[in-house]
Amino acid sequence: MISETVEHTDQRASSAAAKLRDRISKKTARVGVLGLGYVGLPLSVEFARAGFEVVGIDVQQSKVDQFNSGQSYVKDVEDDVFGPLVKSGKLRATADYSIIQELDTIDICVPTPLRKTKDPDMTYVVSATDAIAEHLHPGLLVMLESTTYPGTTDELLLPKLEATGLKVGRDFFLCFSPERVDPGNPKFHTRNIPKVVGGITPTCTEMGALFYKQALETVVPVSSTRVAEMVKLLENTFRMINIGLVNELALMCDRMNINVWEIIDAAATKPFGFMPFYPGPGLGGHCIPIDPFYLSWKSKQSGIEARFIELAGYINGRMPEFVIEKIQNALNDISKPVRGSRIHILGVAYKRDIEDVRESPALDIIQLLLRRGAYVTFSDPHVTGIHVEGRKLQSQETMAGVDAADCVVILTNHSDFDYDAVVGRSKLIVDTRNALKGYESDKIVRL
Ligand SMILES: NC(=O)c1ccc[n+]([C@@H]2O[C@H](COP(=O)([O-])OP(=O)(O)OC[C@H]3O[C@@H](n4cnc5c(N)ncnc54)[C@H](O)[C@@H]3O)[C@@H](O)[C@H]2O)c1
Repeated sequence: MISETVEHTDQRASSAAAKLRDRISKKTARVGVLGLGYVGLPLSVEFARAGFEVVGIDVQQSKVDQFNSGQSYVKDVEDDVFGPLVKSGKLRATADYSIIQELDTIDICVPTPLRKTKDPDMTYVVSATDAIAEHLHPGLLVMLESTTYPGTTDELLLPKLEATGLKVGRDFFLCFSPERVDPGNPKFHTRNIPKVVGGITPTCTEMGALFYKQALETVVPVSSTRVAEMVKLLENTFRMINIGLVNELALMCDRMNINVWEIIDAAATKPFGFMPFYPGPGLGGHCIPIDPFYLSWKSKQSGIEARFIELAGYINGRMPEFVIEKIQNALNDISKPVRGSRIHILGVAYKRDIEDVRESPALDIIQLLLRRGAYVTFSDPHVTGIHVEGRKLQSQETMAGVDAADCVVILTNHSDFDYDAVVGRSKLIVDTRNALKGYESDKIVRL
Protein backbone atom coordinates (compact mmCIF):
# COMPACT_ATOMS: atom_id res chain seq x y z
CA MET A 1 0.00 0.00 0.00
CA ILE A 2 2.73 2.47 1.04
CA SER A 3 4.86 1.64 -1.98
CA GLU A 4 1.81 2.15 -4.23
CA THR A 5 1.28 5.65 -2.77
CA VAL A 6 4.96 6.50 -3.22
CA GLU A 7 4.80 5.25 -6.79
CA HIS A 8 1.67 7.31 -7.44
CA THR A 9 3.34 10.44 -6.03
CA ASP A 10 6.47 9.82 -8.09
CA GLN A 11 4.33 9.47 -11.20
CA ARG A 12 2.62 12.81 -10.50
CA ALA A 13 6.00 14.43 -9.98
CA SER A 14 7.46 12.96 -13.10
CA SER A 15 4.43 13.84 -15.21
CA ALA A 16 4.39 17.55 -14.12
CA ALA A 17 8.16 17.71 -14.57
CA ALA A 18 8.05 15.91 -17.93
CA LYS A 19 5.41 18.31 -19.29
CA LEU A 20 7.32 21.37 -18.11
CA ARG A 21 10.63 19.98 -19.42
CA ASP A 22 9.03 19.45 -22.79
CA ARG A 23 7.45 22.91 -22.95
CA ILE A 24 10.68 24.64 -21.88
CA SER A 25 12.83 22.68 -24.34
CA LYS A 26 10.43 23.36 -27.22
CA LYS A 27 10.13 27.01 -26.15
CA THR A 28 6.38 26.71 -26.00
CA ALA A 29 6.42 27.46 -22.25
CA ARG A 30 4.70 30.76 -21.42
CA VAL A 31 7.13 32.85 -19.41
CA GLY A 32 6.13 35.40 -16.77
CA VAL A 33 8.28 38.11 -15.17
CA LEU A 34 6.84 39.81 -12.10
CA GLY A 35 8.33 43.27 -11.46
CA LEU A 36 9.41 45.17 -14.57
CA GLY A 37 12.29 47.32 -13.32
CA TYR A 38 16.05 47.33 -13.91
CA VAL A 39 16.12 43.53 -13.50
CA GLY A 40 12.74 42.38 -14.83
CA LEU A 41 12.73 44.30 -18.10
CA PRO A 42 16.10 43.03 -19.44
CA LEU A 43 15.26 39.50 -18.29
CA SER A 44 11.93 39.51 -20.12
CA VAL A 45 13.70 40.78 -23.24
CA GLU A 46 16.23 37.91 -23.17
CA PHE A 47 13.52 35.25 -23.01
CA ALA A 48 11.48 36.92 -25.75
CA ARG A 49 14.63 37.11 -27.90
CA ALA A 50 15.19 33.40 -27.26
CA GLY A 51 11.77 32.71 -28.81
CA PHE A 52 9.45 32.47 -25.78
CA GLU A 53 6.19 34.30 -25.39
CA VAL A 54 6.76 36.52 -22.36
CA VAL A 55 4.28 38.38 -20.17
CA GLY A 56 5.52 40.98 -17.72
CA ILE A 57 3.46 41.81 -14.64
CA ASP A 58 3.78 45.01 -12.63
CA VAL A 59 1.63 46.73 -10.00
CA GLN A 60 2.28 50.14 -11.56
CA GLN A 61 -0.16 50.65 -14.44
CA SER A 62 2.03 53.51 -15.77
CA LYS A 63 4.97 51.10 -16.10
CA VAL A 64 2.76 48.53 -17.83
CA ASP A 65 1.59 51.18 -20.31
CA GLN A 66 5.13 52.35 -20.97
CA PHE A 67 6.25 48.74 -21.48
CA ASN A 68 3.41 48.07 -23.94
CA SER A 69 4.26 51.25 -25.86
CA GLY A 70 7.49 49.48 -26.90
CA GLN A 71 9.75 52.20 -25.52
CA SER A 72 12.44 50.92 -23.21
CA TYR A 73 12.81 52.78 -19.93
CA VAL A 74 15.95 50.85 -18.92
CA LYS A 75 19.04 52.39 -20.48
CA ASP A 76 20.87 49.13 -21.20
CA VAL A 77 17.94 47.83 -23.29
CA GLU A 78 17.83 49.53 -26.69
CA ASP A 79 14.49 50.61 -28.20
CA ASP A 80 15.34 48.89 -31.46
CA VAL A 81 15.60 45.55 -29.63
CA PHE A 82 12.67 46.10 -27.27
CA GLY A 83 10.20 47.76 -29.66
CA PRO A 84 10.03 44.98 -32.29
CA LEU A 85 9.57 42.30 -29.59
CA VAL A 86 6.58 44.18 -28.20
CA LYS A 87 5.23 44.83 -31.69
CA SER A 88 5.49 41.16 -32.63
CA GLY A 89 3.47 40.15 -29.55
CA LYS A 90 6.36 38.12 -28.08
CA LEU A 91 6.53 40.55 -25.20
CA ARG A 92 3.71 42.30 -23.39
CA ALA A 93 2.82 43.55 -19.92
CA THR A 94 -0.20 43.53 -17.67
CA ALA A 95 -1.19 44.59 -14.15
CA ASP A 96 -3.58 41.65 -13.89
CA TYR A 97 -2.21 38.80 -11.78
CA SER A 98 -4.78 36.31 -13.08
CA ILE A 99 -2.52 35.82 -16.14
CA ILE A 100 -0.37 33.63 -13.82
CA GLN A 101 -2.94 30.84 -14.33
CA GLU A 102 -1.80 30.62 -17.96
CA LEU A 103 1.95 30.72 -17.31
CA ASP A 104 4.47 27.87 -17.10
CA THR A 105 7.21 29.90 -15.40
CA ILE A 106 7.38 33.04 -13.31
CA ASP A 107 10.43 35.05 -12.18
CA ILE A 108 9.96 37.39 -9.23
CA CYS A 109 12.03 40.58 -9.66
CA VAL A 110 10.53 42.95 -7.07
CA PRO A 111 12.46 45.36 -4.80
CA THR A 112 14.03 44.25 -1.52
CA PRO A 113 14.86 47.50 0.30
CA LEU A 114 15.81 48.09 3.93
CA ARG A 115 13.60 49.57 6.59
CA LYS A 116 14.88 52.67 8.44
CA THR A 117 16.11 50.27 11.14
CA LYS A 118 18.26 48.46 8.49
CA ASP A 119 16.05 45.36 8.72
CA PRO A 120 14.91 43.67 5.47
CA ASP A 121 11.67 45.03 4.06
CA MET A 122 10.02 41.94 2.58
CA THR A 123 6.69 43.62 1.77
CA TYR A 124 7.12 43.40 -2.01
CA VAL A 125 8.29 39.78 -1.97
CA VAL A 126 5.40 38.81 0.30
CA SER A 127 2.76 40.49 -1.86
CA ALA A 128 4.24 38.97 -5.03
CA THR A 129 4.24 35.51 -3.42
CA ASP A 130 0.64 35.92 -2.22
CA ALA A 131 -0.40 36.83 -5.76
CA ILE A 132 1.34 33.76 -7.16
CA ALA A 133 -0.14 31.49 -4.46
CA GLU A 134 -3.60 32.69 -5.41
CA HIS A 135 -3.05 31.54 -9.00
CA LEU A 136 -0.66 28.64 -8.41
CA HIS A 137 -1.36 25.62 -10.60
CA PRO A 138 0.32 22.27 -11.26
CA GLY A 139 3.39 22.52 -13.47
CA LEU A 140 4.36 26.13 -12.58
CA LEU A 141 8.08 26.92 -12.12
CA VAL A 142 8.51 29.82 -9.65
CA MET A 143 11.87 31.58 -9.37
CA LEU A 144 12.83 34.34 -6.95
CA GLU A 145 15.51 36.70 -8.29
CA SER A 146 15.29 39.55 -5.76
CA THR A 147 18.36 39.77 -3.54
CA THR A 148 17.51 38.54 -0.07
CA TYR A 149 18.71 36.77 3.10
CA PRO A 150 19.49 33.03 3.10
CA GLY A 151 16.35 31.12 3.98
CA THR A 152 13.83 33.43 2.27
CA THR A 153 12.79 30.92 -0.39
CA ASP A 154 12.27 27.94 1.91
CA GLU A 155 11.05 29.84 5.00
CA LEU A 156 8.87 32.53 3.42
CA LEU A 157 7.84 31.51 -0.11
CA LEU A 158 7.57 27.75 0.24
CA PRO A 159 5.00 27.67 3.12
CA LYS A 160 2.80 30.21 1.31
CA LEU A 161 2.88 28.22 -1.92
CA GLU A 162 2.38 24.84 -0.25
CA ALA A 163 -0.56 26.21 1.76
CA THR A 164 -2.48 25.87 -1.52
CA GLY A 165 -2.29 22.07 -1.13
CA LEU A 166 0.18 21.71 -4.01
CA LYS A 167 3.53 20.08 -3.24
CA VAL A 168 6.93 21.43 -4.23
CA GLY A 169 9.02 19.16 -6.47
CA ARG A 170 5.91 17.22 -7.37
CA ASP A 171 3.21 19.70 -8.46
CA PHE A 172 5.20 22.92 -8.78
CA PHE A 173 8.88 23.84 -8.77
CA LEU A 174 10.61 26.55 -6.72
CA CYS A 175 14.11 28.03 -7.15
CA PHE A 176 16.21 31.01 -6.12
CA SER A 177 18.40 32.54 -8.80
CA PRO A 178 20.28 35.74 -7.92
CA GLU A 179 20.28 38.59 -10.40
CA ARG A 180 23.79 39.89 -11.08
CA VAL A 181 23.09 42.55 -13.71
CA ASP A 182 25.45 45.53 -13.63
CA PRO A 183 23.69 48.56 -15.16
CA GLY A 184 25.88 50.54 -17.53
CA ASN A 185 28.38 47.70 -18.00
CA PRO A 186 29.10 47.55 -21.74
CA LYS A 187 30.69 44.08 -21.58
CA PHE A 188 28.48 42.06 -19.24
CA HIS A 189 24.69 42.04 -19.41
CA THR A 190 21.84 39.69 -18.57
CA ARG A 191 22.65 37.16 -21.31
CA ASN A 192 26.38 36.68 -20.73
CA ILE A 193 26.53 36.91 -16.93
CA PRO A 194 26.62 33.31 -15.59
CA LYS A 195 23.33 32.48 -13.85
CA VAL A 196 23.45 30.69 -10.50
CA VAL A 197 20.33 28.67 -9.65
CA GLY A 198 19.39 26.50 -6.68
CA GLY A 199 16.08 24.71 -6.16
CA ILE A 200 14.20 23.37 -3.15
CA THR A 201 14.48 19.82 -4.58
CA PRO A 202 16.85 18.39 -7.20
CA THR A 203 13.98 18.41 -9.73
CA CYS A 204 13.38 22.10 -8.99
CA THR A 205 17.07 22.84 -9.67
CA GLU A 206 16.95 20.81 -12.86
CA MET A 207 13.86 22.73 -14.08
CA GLY A 208 15.37 26.12 -13.17
CA ALA A 209 18.68 25.31 -14.89
CA LEU A 210 16.93 24.02 -18.01
CA PHE A 211 14.83 27.18 -18.15
CA TYR A 212 17.73 29.65 -17.88
CA LYS A 213 19.83 27.67 -20.37
CA GLN A 214 17.31 28.50 -23.10
CA ALA A 215 18.15 32.20 -23.03
CA LEU A 216 21.37 32.75 -21.08
CA GLU A 217 24.89 31.66 -22.01
CA THR A 218 26.04 29.96 -18.79
CA VAL A 219 24.07 28.39 -15.97
CA VAL A 220 25.62 27.37 -12.64
CA PRO A 221 23.38 24.97 -10.68
CA VAL A 222 23.97 24.82 -6.91
CA SER A 223 22.66 22.41 -4.30
CA SER A 224 19.97 24.53 -2.60
CA THR A 225 18.08 27.82 -2.56
CA ARG A 226 20.06 28.86 0.54
CA VAL A 227 23.37 28.41 -1.26
CA ALA A 228 22.09 30.48 -4.21
CA GLU A 229 20.86 33.22 -1.83
CA MET A 230 24.19 33.32 0.00
CA VAL A 231 26.22 33.47 -3.26
CA LYS A 232 24.71 36.85 -4.08
CA LEU A 233 25.29 38.18 -0.56
CA LEU A 234 28.92 37.03 -0.62
CA GLU A 235 29.50 38.85 -3.94
CA ASN A 236 27.98 42.12 -2.79
CA THR A 237 29.41 41.98 0.72
CA PHE A 238 32.86 41.35 -0.80
CA ARG A 239 32.51 44.58 -2.79
CA MET A 240 31.11 46.59 0.09
CA ILE A 241 33.87 45.56 2.50
CA ASN A 242 36.67 46.15 -0.01
CA ILE A 243 35.26 49.57 -0.82
CA GLY A 244 35.17 50.21 2.95
CA LEU A 245 38.83 49.25 3.13
CA VAL A 246 39.94 51.65 0.37
CA ASN A 247 37.73 54.40 1.78
CA GLU A 248 39.52 53.98 5.11
CA LEU A 249 42.82 54.04 3.23
CA ALA A 250 41.70 57.31 1.59
CA LEU A 251 41.03 58.81 5.05
CA MET A 252 44.51 57.72 6.20
CA CYS A 253 46.23 58.97 3.04
CA ASP A 254 44.52 62.34 3.41
CA ARG A 255 46.14 62.77 6.84
CA MET A 256 49.49 61.51 5.58
CA ASN A 257 49.36 63.60 2.39
CA ILE A 258 49.73 60.60 0.06
CA ASN A 259 47.80 60.15 -3.20
CA VAL A 260 45.55 57.12 -2.57
CA TRP A 261 44.80 56.69 -6.30
CA GLU A 262 48.47 56.35 -7.17
CA ILE A 263 48.85 53.68 -4.49
CA ILE A 264 45.95 51.61 -5.80
CA ASP A 265 47.12 51.88 -9.41
CA ALA A 266 50.62 50.77 -8.46
CA ALA A 267 49.33 47.92 -6.26
CA ALA A 268 47.14 46.76 -9.16
CA THR A 269 50.26 46.04 -11.20
CA LYS A 270 50.74 42.94 -9.02
CA PRO A 271 49.60 40.16 -11.34
CA PHE A 272 48.12 37.96 -8.59
CA GLY A 273 46.49 38.25 -5.17
CA PHE A 274 45.29 41.86 -5.51
CA MET A 275 42.13 43.30 -7.02
CA PRO A 276 41.71 47.08 -7.22
CA PHE A 277 38.78 48.79 -5.53
CA TYR A 278 38.45 52.57 -5.50
CA PRO A 279 37.40 55.08 -2.86
CA GLY A 280 34.61 57.54 -3.54
CA PRO A 281 32.02 59.87 -2.05
CA GLY A 282 30.01 56.96 -0.55
CA LEU A 283 28.06 53.90 -1.62
CA GLY A 284 25.04 54.12 -3.88
CA GLY A 285 22.55 52.07 -5.83
CA HIS A 286 20.04 49.43 -4.93
CA CYS A 287 22.58 46.69 -4.09
CA ILE A 288 25.93 47.38 -2.41
CA PRO A 289 24.67 49.74 0.35
CA ILE A 290 21.72 47.45 1.11
CA ASP A 291 22.32 43.75 0.49
CA PRO A 292 25.06 43.17 3.13
CA PHE A 293 22.58 44.29 5.79
CA TYR A 294 20.27 41.44 4.75
CA LEU A 295 23.14 39.13 5.66
CA SER A 296 24.01 40.85 8.95
CA TRP A 297 20.33 40.83 9.97
CA LYS A 298 20.04 37.10 9.33
CA SER A 299 23.38 36.20 10.87
CA LYS A 300 22.45 38.11 14.05
CA GLN A 301 19.48 35.75 14.38
CA SER A 302 21.93 32.84 14.27
CA GLY A 303 23.99 34.46 17.04
CA ILE A 304 26.83 35.72 14.84
CA GLU A 305 27.61 39.44 14.68
CA ALA A 306 28.63 40.42 11.13
CA ARG A 307 31.42 42.72 12.32
CA PHE A 308 33.14 43.35 8.96
CA ILE A 309 29.82 44.46 7.48
CA GLU A 310 29.02 46.83 10.34
CA LEU A 311 32.50 48.36 10.23
CA ALA A 312 32.56 48.82 6.46
CA GLY A 313 29.03 50.26 6.68
CA TYR A 314 30.25 52.79 9.23
CA ILE A 315 33.29 53.85 7.18
CA ASN A 316 31.38 54.04 3.89
CA GLY A 317 28.63 56.00 5.64
CA ARG A 318 31.20 58.62 6.76
CA MET A 319 32.36 59.41 3.22
CA PRO A 320 29.78 62.14 2.40
CA GLU A 321 30.88 64.03 5.56
CA PHE A 322 34.50 63.58 4.52
CA VAL A 323 33.73 65.07 1.09
CA ILE A 324 32.10 68.06 2.80
CA GLU A 325 35.25 68.47 4.92
CA LYS A 326 37.34 68.41 1.73
CA ILE A 327 35.15 71.08 0.10
CA GLN A 328 35.24 73.20 3.24
CA ASN A 329 39.05 73.03 3.46
CA ALA A 330 39.47 73.72 -0.26
CA LEU A 331 37.25 76.82 0.02
CA ASN A 332 39.08 77.93 3.18
CA ASP A 333 42.31 77.92 1.20
CA ILE A 334 40.83 80.57 -1.10
CA SER A 335 39.31 82.38 1.90
CA LYS A 336 35.70 81.50 1.16
CA PRO A 337 33.26 79.95 3.62
CA VAL A 338 30.83 77.26 2.44
CA ARG A 339 27.92 79.51 3.41
CA GLY A 340 27.10 81.66 0.44
CA SER A 341 29.51 79.87 -1.94
CA ARG A 342 28.32 78.62 -5.32
CA ILE A 343 29.01 74.93 -5.62
CA HIS A 344 28.40 73.07 -8.87
CA ILE A 345 28.15 69.28 -8.71
CA LEU A 346 29.18 67.18 -11.72
CA GLY A 347 27.21 63.93 -11.67
CA VAL A 348 24.49 62.86 -9.26
CA ALA A 349 23.89 59.26 -10.46
CA TYR A 350 25.41 56.69 -8.10
CA LYS A 351 27.88 55.56 -10.75
CA ARG A 352 29.37 56.38 -14.12
CA ASP A 353 27.21 56.53 -17.26
CA ILE A 354 23.90 55.50 -15.70
CA GLU A 355 20.76 57.42 -14.73
CA ASP A 356 20.01 55.74 -11.39
CA VAL A 357 20.12 58.03 -8.33
CA ARG A 358 18.83 55.50 -5.79
CA GLU A 359 20.87 55.78 -2.56
CA SER A 360 23.29 58.05 -4.43
CA PRO A 361 25.77 59.75 -2.08
CA ALA A 362 25.33 62.90 -4.19
CA LEU A 363 21.91 63.36 -2.59
CA ASP A 364 23.44 63.32 0.91
CA ILE A 365 26.28 65.62 -0.08
CA ILE A 366 23.94 68.15 -1.71
CA GLN A 367 21.71 68.04 1.36
CA LEU A 368 24.68 68.70 3.67
CA LEU A 369 25.85 71.59 1.49
CA LEU A 370 22.38 73.16 1.39
CA ARG A 371 22.15 72.89 5.18
CA ARG A 372 25.48 74.71 5.45
CA GLY A 373 24.09 77.57 3.38
CA ALA A 374 25.78 76.90 0.02
CA TYR A 375 24.11 77.61 -3.34
CA VAL A 376 24.13 74.25 -5.06
CA THR A 377 23.58 73.45 -8.74
CA PHE A 378 24.32 70.29 -10.68
CA SER A 379 24.80 68.84 -14.16
CA ASP A 380 24.24 65.23 -15.11
CA PRO A 381 23.79 64.13 -18.71
CA HIS A 382 21.67 61.17 -17.53
CA VAL A 383 19.52 62.80 -14.82
CA THR A 384 17.13 65.66 -15.48
CA GLY A 385 16.10 66.48 -11.90
CA ILE A 386 16.42 65.44 -8.25
CA HIS A 387 14.59 66.21 -5.01
CA VAL A 388 16.66 67.23 -2.00
CA GLU A 389 15.46 68.88 1.23
CA GLY A 390 12.01 69.38 -0.28
CA ARG A 391 13.51 71.26 -3.23
CA LYS A 392 13.56 70.23 -6.85
CA LEU A 393 16.91 70.81 -8.56
CA GLN A 394 17.15 70.64 -12.36
CA SER A 395 20.25 69.59 -14.23
CA GLN A 396 22.01 72.60 -15.78
CA GLU A 397 24.13 73.03 -18.86
CA THR A 398 27.55 71.84 -17.64
CA MET A 399 29.82 74.71 -18.59
CA ALA A 400 27.33 77.38 -17.47
CA GLY A 401 27.34 75.71 -14.03
CA VAL A 402 31.13 75.41 -14.02
CA ASP A 403 31.67 79.05 -15.02
CA ALA A 404 29.39 80.34 -12.26
CA ALA A 405 30.80 78.16 -9.48
CA ASP A 406 33.28 78.99 -6.73
CA CYS A 407 33.95 75.28 -6.50
CA VAL A 408 33.14 72.37 -8.82
CA VAL A 409 32.72 68.96 -7.17
CA ILE A 410 32.98 65.79 -9.28
CA LEU A 411 30.76 63.16 -7.67
CA THR A 412 30.18 60.91 -10.72
CA ASN A 413 32.83 60.45 -13.41
CA HIS A 414 30.46 60.26 -16.40
CA SER A 415 32.34 59.85 -19.66
CA ASP A 416 30.26 62.59 -21.36
CA PHE A 417 31.81 65.44 -19.34
CA ASP A 418 34.41 67.52 -21.16
CA TYR A 419 37.11 67.35 -18.49
CA ASP A 420 39.58 69.53 -20.46
CA ALA A 421 37.03 72.34 -20.46
CA VAL A 422 36.11 71.72 -16.81
CA VAL A 423 39.76 71.96 -15.71
CA GLY A 424 40.37 74.95 -17.96
CA ARG A 425 37.41 77.01 -16.73
CA SER A 426 36.89 76.05 -13.05
CA LYS A 427 38.22 78.16 -10.19
CA LEU A 428 38.51 75.19 -7.83
CA ILE A 429 37.72 71.46 -8.26
CA VAL A 430 37.19 68.74 -5.68
CA ASP A 431 37.48 65.42 -7.51
CA THR A 432 36.08 62.47 -5.53
CA ARG A 433 36.44 59.92 -8.38
CA ASN A 434 39.89 60.53 -9.83
CA ALA A 435 38.12 61.64 -13.00
CA LEU A 436 41.01 64.10 -13.52
CA LYS A 437 43.73 61.46 -13.43
CA GLY A 438 46.71 62.82 -15.34
CA TYR A 439 45.69 66.48 -14.96
CA GLU A 440 48.13 68.60 -12.94
CA SER A 441 46.80 71.82 -11.49
CA ASP A 442 46.86 73.57 -8.11
CA LYS A 443 43.12 74.06 -8.32
CA ILE A 444 42.44 70.29 -8.26
CA VAL A 445 41.84 68.76 -4.82
CA ARG A 446 41.65 64.97 -4.89
CA LEU A 447 39.95 62.63 -2.41
N1 LIG B 1 19.10 47.19 -10.14
C1 LIG B 1 20.14 46.39 -10.12
O1 LIG B 1 21.18 46.70 -10.66
C2 LIG B 1 20.07 45.02 -9.46
C3 LIG B 1 21.12 44.12 -9.67
C4 LIG B 1 21.06 42.87 -9.09
C5 LIG B 1 19.97 42.55 -8.26
N2 LIG B 1 18.97 43.45 -8.04
C6 LIG B 1 17.86 43.04 -7.19
O2 LIG B 1 16.72 42.78 -8.01
C7 LIG B 1 15.52 43.15 -7.35
C8 LIG B 1 14.73 44.13 -8.22
O3 LIG B 1 15.51 45.32 -8.36
P1 LIG B 1 15.21 46.39 -9.48
O4 LIG B 1 16.38 47.33 -9.49
O5 LIG B 1 14.79 45.76 -10.75
O6 LIG B 1 13.93 47.15 -8.83
P2 LIG B 1 12.98 48.22 -9.54
O7 LIG B 1 12.46 49.08 -8.46
O8 LIG B 1 13.68 48.84 -10.70
O9 LIG B 1 11.80 47.33 -10.14
C9 LIG B 1 10.93 46.58 -9.36
C10 LIG B 1 9.56 46.57 -10.01
O10 LIG B 1 8.71 45.70 -9.25
C11 LIG B 1 7.41 46.25 -9.25
N3 LIG B 1 6.66 45.65 -8.15
C12 LIG B 1 6.79 45.87 -6.83
N4 LIG B 1 5.94 45.07 -6.14
C13 LIG B 1 5.28 44.33 -7.06
C14 LIG B 1 4.29 43.32 -6.98
N5 LIG B 1 3.82 42.91 -5.81
N6 LIG B 1 3.82 42.80 -8.12
C15 LIG B 1 4.28 43.21 -9.31
N7 LIG B 1 5.23 44.15 -9.45
C16 LIG B 1 5.72 44.70 -8.34
C17 LIG B 1 7.65 47.74 -9.13
O11 LIG B 1 6.52 48.48 -9.54
C18 LIG B 1 8.87 47.92 -10.05
O12 LIG B 1 8.48 48.21 -11.38
C19 LIG B 1 15.95 43.70 -5.99
O13 LIG B 1 15.91 42.68 -5.05
C20 LIG B 1 17.40 44.12 -6.22
O14 LIG B 1 18.14 44.09 -5.03
C21 LIG B 1 18.99 44.67 -8.64
